[in-house]
Amino acid sequence: MTNSRFRPGRVAIVTGAAQGLGRAIAERLLKEGVGVLLVDRNGEQLDRTAAELAGLGKCGTLALDVTEESAPEAMRERAMGTFGSIDILVNNAGVAGSRPVHEMDEPRWRQVLEVNLNAVFRVTKAVLPAMMAAGYGRIVNMASMTGLTGFRGSSDYAVSKAGLMALTRSLAADYGSYGITANAVAPGAIRTPLAEKLLATRPKWYVRGNLEIKPVERIGEPEDVAAAVAYLTSDEAGYVSGHVLVVDGGLTATHFLPDHFSDEV
Ligand SMILES: NC(=O)c1ccc[n+]([C@@H]2O[C@H](COP(=O)([O-])OP(=O)(O)OC[C@H]3O[C@@H](n4cnc5c(N)ncnc54)[C@H](O)[C@@H]3O)[C@@H](O)[C@H]2O)c1
Repeated sequence: MTNSRFRPGRVAIVTGAAQGLGRAIAERLLKEGVGVLLVDRNGEQLDRTAAELAGLGKCGTLALDVTEESAPEAMRERAMGTFGSIDILVNNAGVAGSRPVHEMDEPRWRQVLEVNLNAVFRVTKAVLPAMMAAGYGRIVNMASMTGLTGFRGSSDYAVSKAGLMALTRSLAADYGSYGITANAVAPGAIRTPLAEKLLATRPKWYVRGNLEIKPVERIGEPEDVAAAVAYLTSDEAGYVSGHVLVVDGGLTATHFLPDHFSDEV
């Protein structure tokens, strides 16, 4: 795909890129002519994905857990060493939450926040100096509509995603003068291994609510999210910053559609 939305030679780091949304984002950016460093803790799946995407453009891989102390610097070094710049950072790696508060143990609470929020802070901190020096940057944090609505049975997850939205707005405020934008994407249910596992364990009303009882009566596809990320990371989105782009088929905006109330849920 030839596209003038990205200046030739742009480079992106995408975390959690071995599967699901991260893979779709990496694929889309490669098709847009962006060089991509794919990062994931699942080294085997990462290698398979990179082999499948290699024909699309210039990509590299780095197998690590983003919560490791050395991870942010390793990512910065590998991207600069392989590609020579870091123009785009997509903080996508994330894990699902687990329990309502009264059943939650504190180590689990901390673990979800560590992956979904604290690692994003550290990785972003490591990458910012290169973007500031270049006077250009696009940061996209993968939040969730649950960060806006709360999430029944997974307060740890919802809190981590709400935190990401506040971090995003703060980054937008602090670094706009450097030519750096920061935005969040807040997906609803998207067909990925994570969502399929989650939906399989939830009651019928939850599944119907997420998949059918909304204006766009289908589950989202990873490509729906990748298209939003492609826009927000493009050169042409330079005046869009501090925004949370909800990609949920209209679920959050409409809450419930009255004509569905007569259905047996
Ligand atoms: N799928 C959905 O419905 C949905 C909805 C809203 C938000 N999200 C968010 O989108 C992001 C991607 O979700 P997905 O559905 O593609 O999930 P997924 O589980 O299918 O893929 C996540 C990838 O991230 C990697 N990963 C997880 N923790 C990591 C870590 N600590 N270090 C490095 N890699 C790590 C995993 O190995 C995996 O390859 C997550 O942040 C998730 O919270 C997903």
